[in-house]
Formats: sequence, C-alpha cells, structure tokens
Amino acid sequence: MTNDVLIIGGGIIGLACGVELRLRGANVTVLCRDFTAAASHAAAGMLAPDAENIPNEAMLALCRRSRNLYLDWTQKLVQLTTEKDLNNTGYWSCGILAPVYQQAEDTGDKTAYWLDKDAINQYQPGLGTDVVGGWWYPEDGQVDNRALIKVLRTAADSLGVVFQDGITVEAIPQQQGKVIGVQTNTGLFRADHYLVAAGAWANQFLPLPVRPRKGQMLSLRVPDFLTELPLTRVLFGENIYIVPRRDRSIIIGATSEDVGFAADNTPGGIQSLLQSAIRLYPQLENYPIQELWWGFRPATPDELPILGHSHCDNLTFATGHYRNGILLAPITATLIADLICKQKADPLLANFHYSRFSAVSSTTTPMLIHATPATNGNRHPEISDLIVPDSPLIIAGKSFKSRLMTGTGKYRNIQEMQQSVTASGCQIVTVAVRRVQTNAPGHEGLAEALDWSKIWMLPNTAGCQTAEEAIRVARLGREMAKLLGQEDNNFVKLEVIPDAKYLLPDPIGTLQAAEQLVREGFAVLPYINADPMLAKRLEEVGCATVMPLAAPIGSGQGLKTTANIQIIIENAHIPVVVDAGIGAPSEAAEAMELGADALLINSAIALAENAPAMAYAMNLATVAGRMAYLAGRMPMKNYASASSPLTGTITG
Ligand code: GLY
Repeated sequence: MTNDVLIIGGGIIGLACGVELRLRGANVTVLCRDFTAAASHAAAGMLAPDAENIPNEAMLALCRRSRNLYLDWTQKLVQLTTEKDLNNTGYWSCGILAPVYQQAEDTGDKTAYWLDKDAINQYQPGLGTDVVGGWWYPEDGQVDNRALIKVLRTAADSLGVVFQDGITVEAIPQQQGKVIGVQTNTGLFRADHYLVAAGAWANQFLPLPVRPRKGQMLSLRVPDFLTELPLTRVLFGENIYIVPRRDRSIIIGATSEDVGFAADNTPGGIQSLLQSAIRLYPQLENYPIQELWWGFRPATPDELPILGHSHCDNLTFATGHYRNGILLAPITATLIADLICKQKADPLLANFHYSRFSAVSSTTTPMLIHATPATNGNRHPEISDLIVPDSPLIIAGKSFKSRLMTGTGKYRNIQEMQQSVTASGCQIVTVAVRRVQTNAPGHEGLAEALDWSKIWMLPNTAGCQTAEEAIRVARLGREMAKLLGQEDNNFVKLEVIPDAKYLLPDPIGTLQAAEQLVREGFAVLPYINADPMLAKRLEEVGCATVMPLAAPIGSGQGLKTTANIQIIIENAHIPVVVDAGIGAPSEAAEAMELGADALLINSAIALAENAPAMAYAMNLATVAGRMAYLAGRMPMKNYASASSPLTGTITG
C-alpha cells in the first residue's frame, strides 16, 4: 500500500495534521495505537497561553498564534463533517480568571488585568474567602476537547483520510537517510512521507526524548436545582484549574506525575485536586461527581514540542506538545502542512527542532561542574565549589550530570557493589541482561540492590556473539528496564563479541545489530574497537553514542588507543564514551582531558582492594579530567620557562 503521507498517531495532532494535509491534496493514512488512550481525550481543553505563564518566548508566540486560529479552525472543521448533529466543538472564548491567595506583583504582562478582592468577587461570586484578588486573561478560552476530537475525526473521514486504529508501530526502517516503511503489528506500511505525531508514545519506536507525564482529572455536574451556570469562565488556580462547560459539566485538573505509563486514578491524586478546587470555589464540595480519568502528557526535557524536520528527508516530527496539545493543534497542522507540502519552514519552527536534544555538550546550556558527592561525606569543598561552566551529558535527549558510568559485575559481594555505585556518583549503571536472566553470581536481587528510581539502567548485551543474539537480548533488556519501572528506557549498550580470549568486538556484527536496533527505536550505545571509520558509520546509522575501548575489557592496561580515540572525538557529533581498559584514576582523568564526553569503568573499581574508595577516586578523576579539558591545558614547551618571570619585575 502506498500513500502520500503516513501519520503515526491518531490524537488531536495527528488528526489535525491529517485533515490539513488532505485539504492540500495529499492522500493521508493515520495509524493509531489506541484512539481512546490519546491525551486529547483526557485534556481539559483550556486555551490558555496567557494564564499558563509560558516562560519561553517562541513557545508563547506559537501558542498565541494557535489560539488566534481557533475560532476559524473549529468552524471550518464543523463545515467539513458530513454528520449533521456534530455541529459544535464547544469552542468558547470565555476568558480565564486566575484568583490568587497572596497579593501578586504586576509582571507588566499586557494580556492580564488585575482585579482586587471586590472586583473579582463581583465578577465571579462564590470564590474562597482567602482569595485576595486575581488576574483576568480575556483572550484565553476553552474548547470541549472530546467534542472537538469527534468533529475532527469525522471531518477526516468525510475528507477521505484513512484512519486505522489498533496499529502498533514496531519499527521505522531507514536506509541512507530515508524512511523506507513503517513496520507494525499488522504489516509494513509505505508512503512518500511520514509524520510522527505519537505523543507520549513517540519514543517507543524512535529515540526521541518524549516521556509520559501523567495527569489525573475528574468532572462534576452542576446540580439540577441551579437553573443558571454558576461558573462561566475558567478558574486557573495554583496547581488546579476548573473548567466549566456549557453542558453543565465542570472539569477539574490536573495532577502532574512522573510515573511512566502507570494507569488509574489514585485517592491521593483525586484528594489533592478536590482540596485545591474546593478551596478555590467552595460550593463544589456538594456537586455530584461525574467521572474520574487520567491521561499522559507528552513531556520533553525542556517542555517544548518537537516540530519540523527529522534526521531523515521524508520524516517529520510533530510531537511532545506536553501541556498544550489541544491549544497547539491548529498552528501545528498549518506549519507542518506548509513544511511537508510546500517545503516552507516558518521561522518559529527553528526553536522546536529535535536536534536541540542531540547537540554535543559545547552547544548546550551551561551548568556548574562539581564532583558528584559520595555519601561518605569526604567531599572536598574546594572541588565542589569550583565553578567551571559545563553542560550536562546528553544521551538520546536524556541529561546526566555525572560523566562516569559503572557496572555491576565482578564485585566480591553486593554491599561492595552498592557502596561503590554510590561513591562513584554515577547515574548510569550497565547491567548484563544475560547474567540477570541466568541469575549469575552477583546478579541476583539486582532489582532491590540499587535504587532504580535514581539510577538509569543501561542494559548490555554482554555474552552475545552474533548480531542476531544481541538484538534478541537488547529486546529482553528493554523489558527488564520496564520491569524496574523505567517504562521509557530504550537504551542498550551493544556488545557483539565473538572472541573469548581478547574479548574484541565484531565491527560488522555491531554495525548490523545497531542498524536494526535503531530501526526498532532503541538508543544504541555500541561498544567498539577504537576505529574512527566504524565510529562514523555507527553515528550515521543513528547510534546515540559510540563507546571505543581504551584497552581490552578487564585488562586494566590503560589508554592504549589514544590516537584513534582522539580522532573519534574530533569527528563525533554524538557523545564519545571511553569504555574498557581503564585501570587507574590517572587514566580516567587522561581520557577526559582528551575530550571524551564520559567514561564507563567497571573492573578497575570492582577489582580494586577497596572498591568503594576506588569508585570515589574514579569519580574525582572523571570530574578533574573534565574540568581540565574545559579549563584548557597549557601548551607544551621544549625548554624550561621560569615560574617567576623576570619580565615586568622592578629592578634597580
Ligand atoms: N494544559 C493543562 C494540563 O496539561 O494539565
């Protein structure tokens, strides 16, 4: 089957783009995993760029442009539907009132008007007695998102957009910088162009940094004895919003929870919503509860959407809309259709390009570098207080402060392993999937041994001799990370090692496995010999890092491949992690001084006489090497140069 445009994702963004592309003449197919699970159904439908206090200028501009399109867009959609009774999206330019409990300073925002206690109570009677005033945002409003999505879906049907529900994307095969199809549970789909609009699920098939942020919600009904609606504008409080609909329901939202795709409403979540809602508008206490639900916002690390071109010519992104998917639907559809149909890129799109998450460290926002503290309290104040501008280590869009990764193998006992992991200050620990599966010594009880809510697991394919084996084990690794609560962990450290004596990785098998795993949406961190050409090829196929070895695994021989590692660092646009062979902290520091982005050290820590102490030393050495790299070493000279120069000294 060939279509002009294949859209992955059947929520509001996928459908809005689908309709717009169809109107511009494209044949459109929308693949949807589960229509009912889309965040679009769970939302409250606020159109609130002003009330949401969006700090990013480009985002605010995007949101305001979208809000300004809303009236015309919703009317157009209603006209497009052939179903006569679907004539209303509940669009309501009702304004938003943001009551406060403490006198607020005027921020100079021209879209907000301050109302004092009397004024706000006249405008909206019945507010909590501790409300001292509030802001009025007359340009904000709301839409009934559930009604809207119905209209949108029927408009899409009426236009001939093909919508297929229950389709799970398994992989997006790519060749030479182009998507060649979309592999799903029901077969392969091909198109000329592909659009990813899969919300919180986007990173299940592409290494995009989009993660679910759960929101719990509920609705009440205005009691029958009230003839008039008591609320006619949105109330936007602290951590709470109350959205009254014209159909007498009142939507209350929302929690914001970083719990992966954990389903269900919880008593704690609903209690906090009700408490805040009743404080803001006390008479809600007696209104009947109508419905409880939850949904998953697609959150990105900077809370901005990912819009526009991708790493492939024929693949476009429109995902990660976080709290503003409903609001941003019309502008997203317009800009994406312009991009796909006319190759016209609105200047605003540059702010939302996916590459902001894969930039190498020198181009990202500075942060302060410091030795990650070890729990024994022996932290050097002089080191921790030194201020050198640095950026976090970013791998596949995920940020890490520590540049040292460790492992769990070869320790004498589990306590030593735990203490060493803590002392190393690492945030990434690699785990051999095979050894966990076979309960190899030291790998029992791993789930409980480390705090996986703080440590990011890097499953590795150690023990795999072929690409096929490594691919299979990588998939198991993803399941393992899920079982530990890391639902969105798609990282894999790829090791394909056919030779048992030198434990050298197979470059061809590694490249083959990497290609397949990238297609399946893994963030692939391949372990390789320090071969600059191979490193380049792996980067080209979409690996998240390269991990060249310093010397054979477990040999502790130190940096034997410096010249090649230097070339790899010079040419890489992805992080370079020096892995294997480092035996002492001086070597760790040296690798970091060369400009490596991070290190992976296991044996040198686990086999030290005092493993936790060595872990701490490696922690300090990694930080020291990084600081030295950023500080820039002095040039080497052939001859001595006095420490107390004579130039400029007072003589005579
Ligand atoms: N837009 C409101 C929310 O995401 O809760």
